[in-house]
Amino acid sequence: MSVFQAERLTDRIYWVGAVDWAVRDFHGYSTGHGSTYNAYLVMADRITLIDTVKRPFLSQMMDRIASVCDPSDIDIIVSNHSEMDHSGALPETIGRIGPSAVYASRMGAKALEAHFHWQEDTVRTVGTGDTLDLGGATLEFRETRMLHWPDSMVSYMPEEKVLFSQDGFGMHLATSERYGDQVPRTLLETEARKYYANILMPYSQLVRGLLADIRRSGLEIELLCPDHGPVWRSDIGWITGMWDRWAEKPPSRKAVVVYDTMWGSTASMAHAVSEGLGSGGASVRLLPLRATHISDVAAEVLEASALLVGSPTLNGRIFPSVAECLNYLGGLKPAGLVGAAFGSYGWSGEAVRELNGILEGMKVRLLGEGLRTLYVPGPEILDRCFDLGAGVAEELEAMTRGNE
Ligand code: FEO
Repeated sequence: MSVFQAERLTDRIYWVGAVDWAVRDFHGYSTGHGSTYNAYLVMADRITLIDTVKRPFLSQMMDRIASVCDPSDIDIIVSNHSEMDHSGALPETIGRIGPSAVYASRMGAKALEAHFHWQEDTVRTVGTGDTLDLGGATLEFRETRMLHWPDSMVSYMPEEKVLFSQDGFGMHLATSERYGDQVPRTLLETEARKYYANILMPYSQLVRGLLADIRRSGLEIELLCPDHGPVWRSDIGWITGMWDRWAEKPPSRKAVVVYDTMWGSTASMAHAVSEGLGSGGASVRLLPLRATHISDVAAEVLEASALLVGSPTLNGRIFPSVAECLNYLGGLKPAGLVGAAFGSYGWSGEAVRELNGILEGMKVRLLGEGLRTLYVPGPEILDRCFDLGAGVAEELEAMTRGNE
């Protein structure tokens, strides 16, 4: 008997995915608690596999499937999402199982073809409103473009009120527990926030649309099965509520101060700015880039309403780590931010001006022209940094008045 066994979720549905305890870098996103690649087996008349796993975990998935049925009895594979953490094992799975059909969205079929360069007719396409009769169970498909890729779709099984949501409502978290209600809530919140920030934040408008669509349609969900992290049962309202809040992003009194430093001057300014923010009642996250991964910065920015950025001037430019961080954050399109720039310099001092331009490009509403200091900040500059922070805190108070 293999050590890898399926886990029964309902009478007909089994979890047959993989737990990746070791992954610490998921295409540049730091995954401190590993991940899971969830695949689901539906034991209907036509046995169906929903999604597969990252390629190195093929045998783990196949062993789990074999603990329930002969893998060659699988008739259908549904690929809800073509990203390789879910499709990497698909070609070999098809080779081993020999299903009668593989289904994906139209964009999914194109993406899979572009990944694996197989015959175009390997995949049959389905779209929103299409259903598939599995014999004793049904799958209803709904495309969710850009959540998280253009090909993404979700599959709903009305007989058991189960939504297979691919990346939706997932998180990178390796656990031996399969359900969210078996995992400490603080850990779930931390990892769900980080996942939303780094994967979904640019598509918050689409997330709002999807959640509204689900409500409008009256879709009843008793089991929510994402492709990463735990399965949701008693706490579906909790995770969807978190997504609602992140997608809406109401103003908050949270401020993120992110910086790098060469000889400690910009660090001193960052501390003074943070003290000023705190004195005005803001909740501050002071993030030195030498000690903070950019994906953790993104997680903090998700719920913040202020972003203050500090950089020394190096060779007439902003410091490389700050440039990298802002390049990354800019792509994630955080909304509703006010902000300011600060930094020290030796002779030319371009960094603050350059930061202002980048922040404006990110649609951050700048509060002032920023602050810069020659070499080492003295008491007067540090006082001005404190005042800058206090002024931003005052603005946050005004933005949230009546909301909190
Ligand atoms: Fe988990 Fe967008 O892949």
